[in-house]
Amino acid sequence: KRLIPLFFGISLLLSGCGREDLSALRPQGPVAEGQLGLIKLAISIMVGVMIVVFGIAAYVIIRYRRKPGQNGIPKQVEGSLKLEIIWTAIPLLLVLILGIATVQKVFAFGEDYSQDKNAVRVDVTSHLFWWEFSYPDYGVTTAQDMIIPAGKKIALKLRTADVLHSFWVPALAGKTDTNTDGTVNKAWIEASKEGVYLGKCAELCGPSHAFMEFKVKAVSEESFNKWIEEMKAPAVLPEDPAVAEVFRNQCLTCHAVGDQGGPIAPNLTGIGSRETIASILLNEEGVGKPGDDRKPIKDNLVEWMKDPQAVKPGNTMPSPKEDLGLTDDQIEAIAQYLADYKLSY
Ligand code: CUA
Repeated sequence: KRLIPLFFGISLLLSGCGREDLSALRPQGPVAEGQLGLIKLAISIMVGVMIVVFGIAAYVIIRYRRKPGQNGIPKQVEGSLKLEIIWTAIPLLLVLILGIATVQKVFAFGEDYSQDKNAVRVDVTSHLFWWEFSYPDYGVTTAQDMIIPAGKKIALKLRTADVLHSFWVPALAGKTDTNTDGTVNKAWIEASKEGVYLGKCAELCGPSHAFMEFKVKAVSEESFNKWIEEMKAPAVLPEDPAVAEVFRNQCLTCHAVGDQGGPIAPNLTGIGSRETIASILLNEEGVGKPGDDRKPIKDNLVEWMKDPQAVKPGNTMPSPKEDLGLTDDQIEAIAQYLADYKLSY
């Protein structure tokens, strides 16, 4: 029975080890670097206090232990103004150091760069269980993959469309909630280098909270501009008129591609270029990790469309098969069309 807490402790520790790309200890931008700096400052103060306190305790226990031949109660000491001043002043000083550093950083990370001409503005809206990214200066909206230019400040405005979620890209910035009371949270991120940074919803929001992931893709300025152009290009619809009709009537009432469709569901423009669908990768065993054993994006789309609830419980998409009456052939055709819908930025 004694091993049970140990087992729990170890599994808790190990459970954090699987995703190196979700580590706040490998900051890839100024915000995360500053936050790691705060963590290091707090930990060094705590470790310092621990060493001093444990050191004194050990010294007292050894130095003043009862020696052979010693009997009775030793000399009792009560009150020491000098000591009391010292052990009040030192913690006060430490708390002040921590407090000042924290407040400085909190304001620096909450800085509003939306008026900065060099910053890119992105409006983030969280949904059950996906992320919407709008670029008000470009008239572009996308889902799940947030494309940003590397080395630039991205001024974020964060809202929710339903319940409380939290925006978290460990390598770029700590968590910012998307509130249900209509307030808009401001934050900024910057990726120092080009790369893909995984994000997660960091607030328990429903049965598929664990699958509410997204990616921040930092690309060159040139690629970013190209991506914007591709997103604004006229929609590419299925070549087969019958498939196009089903897609337009059933899918585009909520989803959008290019300049067509609705804003209710994730924008599907260029979804063939994404590595995940619905922030999930399916491999032969089911929900999988990024890697070679994953099924092609088309198979993922088919599986998703045949039964969205089985892949991502609690999501708000109607079942194409059950609710919209699509046949397996239609699902295949639409999945193939979406898988082929690629961007080249
Ligand atoms: Cu959204 Cu957890």
